[in-house]
Amino acid sequence: MSEGAAKKEDRRKFQAIRGTRDLLPPETALWNRVEQTAHEVFYTFGFAEIRVPIFEPTELFARAVGSDTDIVSKEMFSFTDPANVIKTLVQDALQAGLGVDVKNIDHAFQSSSEEKVQFISLRPEATASVCRAYIEHGMQQLPQPVKLYYTGPMFRRERPQKGRYRQFYQIGAEVLGGSDAPAIDAEVIEMVMTFFDRLELQGVQLDINSIGCRDCRPKYVELLRAELLKVKDKLGPDSQRRIETNPLRVLDSKLESEQGIIATLPHIADHLCEDCAKHYAEVKHQLQLRGVMYRENWRLVRGLDYYMRTTFEITAQGLGSQNAVCGGGRYDGLVELLGGPPTKGIGFAIGEDRLILSLQESGKAPAPQGRDVYIAWMGERAHATAVRAAKDLRKAGFSVELPPVEQKFGKALGQADKLGARFALILGDNEVASGEWTLKTLADGSQQKLTESQLLDFLRKL
Ligand code: HAM
Repeated sequence: MSEGAAKKEDRRKFQAIRGTRDLLPPETALWNRVEQTAHEVFYTFGFAEIRVPIFEPTELFARAVGSDTDIVSKEMFSFTDPANVIKTLVQDALQAGLGVDVKNIDHAFQSSSEEKVQFISLRPEATASVCRAYIEHGMQQLPQPVKLYYTGPMFRRERPQKGRYRQFYQIGAEVLGGSDAPAIDAEVIEMVMTFFDRLELQGVQLDINSIGCRDCRPKYVELLRAELLKVKDKLGPDSQRRIETNPLRVLDSKLESEQGIIATLPHIADHLCEDCAKHYAEVKHQLQLRGVMYRENWRLVRGLDYYMRTTFEITAQGLGSQNAVCGGGRYDGLVELLGGPPTKGIGFAIGEDRLILSLQESGKAPAPQGRDVYIAWMGERAHATAVRAAKDLRKAGFSVELPPVEQKFGKALGQADKLGARFALILGDNEVASGEWTLKTLADGSQQKLTESQLLDFLRKL
């Protein structure tokens, strides 16, 4: 590289990687409000927070979400962990009674077999991790069901567009253990709807479906496959492939040309076994009991393999094509699949990015908050008073801006205006000497004289 090129390279501006983004103020205030509301609402339903790692063994997601799903087969960010390989090799060597020196490790490393390498993935979702944690910490010993919720980033290598990112955030909840009573399904859905209601999310539409169980679904899938084979030529390449891999996913198709054909396919509701049909009917009854409005959508199958029986999705206004703001369903058997005891499970995850987008589009975002008080000070004695005043006002919970260096009052007031401060507290020699401080209301320019305790009283009463 020439010197010139190297210099140019040095000056390269870094940018966030495609599909990731910075969340900046004042928008972050809305994120905080949303998360705070989730903590409050979920608490009232008896849920407690769990925090699980950002990365896990790839195998966990492959087994839980399904290795043929788009998420696992195409979208995971995966890597190997060389340090872990070495650790495994050291353990193996010690167990075998061999000494560990760098030469040994190097040799072992060269001859290590593939399975020693641990494959790791950034989590594309968190249900698998929560189930892993449930097993790992013996949570089946706790009073059942265990009700957990989480918030945090997930990672999927999808084509970025509005409402679809490679690092996105979910707020999710899982109910594990106990029974599969339809009232649990309904209460979980009621909780999300209460949360959305509290946030005044607009245009909320809940779709529900039942996709049956291990007994009835395979029969329906075979029926679907047979029907799809009859019309194979009229389907696009994706759906044609899915006839073999996962015919249910054909129902998900958004292709205009396939809609007419899909409308003629058999509905799963007509092919549920007696238990599943009863369960589904009772879920609907339980939703009605709770005043939760829903729409039945027989095409709602979801893109993750672990679901059975109840599935649901919620859409909201202002999101364009990526309008699913929440997805969830029942996954009895997943804990067992991951090596735990037979355990019932149901949960959901909300796409927080989309939730925020929808709130912003409908004007529900709070106005940016300025400082409460800007302290305009001049002179050494005033500075000492200003430092003390800032401490007291902050202790009382007010947002205070204390300029670090002296500036003329005119400049300070201009700065206070720019920061959107509500009041300017003016502290000069006169104020310090008299103990009467000047408080200026920036909206109308009015001023008043207040002692320190009067100032606190005045601000508290606002
Ligand atoms: P999911 O449908 O894959 O389900 O994701 C849930 C929600 O996350 C979606 O409805 C959407 O709002 C949001 N989301 C997904 N991918 C992206 C993306 N690339 N960019 C922005 N938002 C996205 C699950 O993840 C399941 N674990 C839900 C669950 C929990 N089921 C049972 N328990």
